[in-house]
Amino acid sequence: MRTTIRTLEKYKREGRPITCLTAYDAGFARLLDAADIDVILVGDSLGMVVQGHDTTLPVTIEQMIYHLEAVARGARRALLMADLPFLGDRDSATAVEQGGALMRAGAQMVKVECRGSQSELVHRMVAAGIPVCAHLGLTPQAVHQYGGYRVQGRGVVAAEQMQAEARALEVAGAQCLLLESVPELLATRITHAAGVPVIGIGASPECDGQVLVLQDVIGLTPKPPRFAQDFMAGAGSLAAAIAAYADAVRSRRFPVSGVHTFD
Ligand code: KIV
Repeated sequence: MRTTIRTLEKYKREGRPITCLTAYDAGFARLLDAADIDVILVGDSLGMVVQGHDTTLPVTIEQMIYHLEAVARGARRALLMADLPFLGDRDSATAVEQGGALMRAGAQMVKVECRGSQSELVHRMVAAGIPVCAHLGLTPQAVHQYGGYRVQGRGVVAAEQMQAEARALEVAGAQCLLLESVPELLATRITHAAGVPVIGIGASPECDGQVLVLQDVIGLTPKPPRFAQDFMAGAGSLAAAIAAYADAVRSRRFPVSGVHTFD
């Protein structure tokens, strides 16, 4: 049976951790489905791990659609989430148009990187019928504004601001939040306060779910980020590595506080 947003809400209520991985083609989508991964994210990280760029910025909406359609042909069970690429959020008309194109290509939810206040834009997307996951914290499309891939939300002011943004995005209609590279305590607070599922990456073991980039999990990234773990080591096969990741998330053995998270 297809995973839907209702399934994720139920998992949050029940305290069952949500498993999420990225995929960019039909073959890996099939493997992730077979391992019972709940959410497949067709991330614009494809610009880095598939295309070999240093950032996600070069990825276009046409490329997102190409990879999403391939994943949609491979996945029958997981909820499919896709990224709105760089500048897809330049105004709400563009966000609705590009978000709509992703939905037509098979997405069940569109992830929007939210720097500053994006609640009006998210509200318009939701009003147009596009389910939105709001990505907060380190939003990789802003890498040049940060001057590198840096932890976000450190210090009282920044933490309070992120908590207020998370609340505003939920009120605007976001049905899921994703927190990337934020201090563990802040991620825990946002997760406990949120009425919608919160998925973390470099965030907190207390998040309702965890996501990693597939290439980091299967040992294909030369210098993986600190919050990742190579599950291929000792696994013997790709299927076993993905199953080990799913099992570690579901049993809350991944992420380890202080090892894959930040103060
Ligand atoms: O593009 C992506 O893969 C992402 C994850 C790192 C969350 O946004």
